[in-house]
Amino acid sequence: MFIVFIGPPGAGKGTQATRLVDYLGIAHLSTGDTLRAAIEQQTQLGRRASDFMQRGELVPDEVVNGIVAERIEQPDCARGCLFDGYPRTIAQAEALDKTLDKRDTPLDLVLDLKVPDDELSRRMLARKREDDTPETIANRLQVFRSQTEPLLDYYEERGLIVSLDGLGTPEAVFERIKSCVDARK
Ligand code: AP5
Repeated sequence: MFIVFIGPPGAGKGTQATRLVDYLGIAHLSTGDTLRAAIEQQTQLGRRASDFMQRGELVPDEVVNGIVAERIEQPDCARGCLFDGYPRTIAQAEALDKTLDKRDTPLDLVLDLKVPDDELSRRMLARKREDDTPETIANRLQVFRSQTEPLLDYYEERGLIVSLDGLGTPEAVFERIKSCVDARK
């Protein structure tokens, strides 16, 4: 299966993605994790992405589209892939469509994880990642509303969206996700 995970920062995409890829036996493609690894290894990609991430802004589309186009050619993506935190703009969604069309592996499902803003902030402030300061969190939320939320309409028109309540224990949220995925298999 090819699945997109959409949700605001702190919604639990990464937490649930780990469980879901184990359950389905598909690859996990997190653009955020890839970019953080590049920053840690001080690669050219990391140097390019670092300032954007610290400000809570999106890294340019062509950079993340390049990451995904390269990663999806790896053998572990043949059976399917969970896109975690990608796409985040309409331009990225169009690029993903093109990439998947070329491979004849269209998207099966888009999971939209809903969590209220006060809970998102509480979760992120408790975690203390480098981009989890109050100012950066506020900007990441604003960027999500303005640039990523329009994707819900984009995928709704194609009947791919399933919205889920992201509140409750991680186990309870995963049970909801599993039911959606099982219904689409
Ligand atoms: P990215 O790494 O994708 O971060 P994000 O979208 O801001 O999401 P988070 O990782 O903060 O949260 P999450 O939803 O994965 O939740 P998590 O499971 O960690 O992106 C970071 C940056 O990279 C972006 O700002 C941008 O600059 C750049 N970037 C990445 N992708 C890009 C793209 N496609 N285009 C352009 N730029 C891009 O959970 C959060 C916390 O809550 C954890 O501590 C967790 O333990 C806890 N938690 C999880 N579930 C629950 C629960 N049910 N109850 C209580 N606590 C919970």
